[in-house]
Amino acid sequence: MRPQRLGHIALAVQDLEAAVAFYRDVMGMEVSSSQTLPEHGVRIAMVELQNTTLELMEPAGVDSPLASFLAKNPRGGLHHMCLEVSDIGAAAQTLQEQGLQVLGDGTPKPGVHHNPVLFLHPRDCHGTLIELEECS
Ligand code: CO
Repeated sequence: MRPQRLGHIALAVQDLEAAVAFYRDVMGMEVSSSQTLPEHGVRIAMVELQNTTLELMEPAGVDSPLASFLAKNPRGGLHHMCLEVSDIGAAAQTLQEQGLQVLGDGTPKPGVHHNPVLFLHPRDCHGTLIELEECS
């Protein structure tokens, strides 16, 4: 599978509007409009850089998986990194054969760019939540 590109770095925040204002007005960066990803239980905005993207995320909905992260990390912080792969099904199979756990039901879901994504359990990845995104 060998991922070759960093897709994005995702930052959990308590208040998306405040985080957008920080990156846009204080840091002077380009920030997208906000959107809700109901399948992932988050509301997000993207900060575009030349070589990668930051994904700002706040919980959306009562059962958002992000809510428990923010309960443990009330100031927010680094949540996951996304690595791009060319074939997500093959990547998932290769990793599962090596004993890694794919979160949820193991089926890729559409991510922020509508490409299929899945997440690997941080326990199996030295403490980091890793998202894989299929990019052609
Ligand atoms: Co992500």
